[in-house]
Amino acid sequence: MKILVVGGGGREHTILWKLAQSPKKPELYCAPGNGGISQIAACVDIAATDIEKMVAFAKREKMDLVVVAPDDPLAMGMVDALEAEGIRAFGPRKNAAIIEASKAFSKELMKKYHIPTAEYETFSDAEKALEYVKTAKIPLVVKADGLALGKGVLICKTRQEAEQAVRQVMLEKAFGAAGNTVVIEEFLEGPEVSVLTFTDSHTILPMASAQDHKRARDNDEGLNTGGMGTFSPTPKYTPDIQQQVEREIILPTVDALNAEGRPFKGVIFFGLMLTKDGPKLLEYNARFGDPEAQSVLFRMKNDLLEIFEAVIEERLSEIALEFEPGAAVCVVMASGGYPEHYEKGKEISGLNEVSDGVVVFHAGTKLENGKFYTSGGRVLGVVAKGADMQEARKTAYENVRKIHFEGAQYRKDIGIKK
Ligand code: AMP
Ligand code: GLY
Repeated sequence: MKILVVGGGGREHTILWKLAQSPKKPELYCAPGNGGISQIAACVDIAATDIEKMVAFAKREKMDLVVVAPDDPLAMGMVDALEAEGIRAFGPRKNAAIIEASKAFSKELMKKYHIPTAEYETFSDAEKALEYVKTAKIPLVVKADGLALGKGVLICKTRQEAEQAVRQVMLEKAFGAAGNTVVIEEFLEGPEVSVLTFTDSHTILPMASAQDHKRARDNDEGLNTGGMGTFSPTPKYTPDIQQQVEREIILPTVDALNAEGRPFKGVIFFGLMLTKDGPKLLEYNARFGDPEAQSVLFRMKNDLLEIFEAVIEERLSEIALEFEPGAAVCVVMASGGYPEHYEKGKEISGLNEVSDGVVVFHAGTKLENGKFYTSGGRVLGVVAKGADMQEARKTAYENVRKIHFEGAQYRKDIGIKK
């Protein structure tokens, strides 16, 4: 069986690592892939967003399954294009992937179907948005409607900041066309939890919870990044809260998408905030999180290939998910300067020194003449398990310290915040 995974980051390395363990022993391909991925899959030099080339390659090479992992190709309709050629694909179609691609759409969906979320208004006219923030309750949050690499969310503590944010997003187009429309919403407080759920549009199969660390530096200081580390599970996501979230947020979302004629098949990522008024939904993603996948799939015992096939064939009800007890911690090692300017091409050493049971997922690396070099902002994700979070964290950091490249930066506090 031939499987192509679309993408080339830590999430895709993790998905391929899981697929490589399948009893079905699939032949693995990845486009475009990275240095680490090239050790377990054949990497193909096609950009993740090049739908035409990707479909042609999948057709020519007779792929039995294509897994579309990143947000952009999903939003652009890569799954639809593959299916139109008779190729089986894992991931939502374009009309369902819109829950991530348009925040205005997803907020409207939440409101229409009474899914708990922050109060909000949507604006396509900058003058009206500026008028609104003059009297709105502060702090507030300004969000670009479209995809903006996780950076289109601006938390505004003062009225000046809010006006500045509207100008930046809508007039100066800091995030391009993603900011033609903005959502301005109420500021919520509480611990955040990421819950990833498989769904075939009938059944939901939520995975173990995780917590991301989006800021670049310890104690949640510094700029927002794609994610500097995760742990799983999140102790604050208790069985009671889990039931409430499934009842009030996850199931109503799947039902709402069916009612709207946009059945969702794939993974829905629920970004939740546990407020004092109960769990509220901050956002949807239409895919696995990165680096959530690294700690969550690391703990998953199931054959991921069997789940992908069950989702596509709409027989997810046959599957029960199983996770290893204890905890997993993923520490991201990034290039010095990330998420701003950083250098590439630094040689990475120590990868062969990591302990048994610890896995290093590659994000921005390339392999040349048997040596690994940095090639992106987030470079590696070092993942370890333990009987509890403390043990997992200790092992993860012991191994992070064995790996070196010039300028390497990582947070020292992943897994400390409970
Ligand atoms: P999002 O891309 O919507 O997940 O937003 C990115 C981050 O901004 C979230 O992980 C939260 O930390 C923060 N955020 C988003 N919406 C709100 C809100 N309404 N109140 C407070 N923080 C928020
Ligand atoms: N870690 C957050 C995301 O994947 O969007």
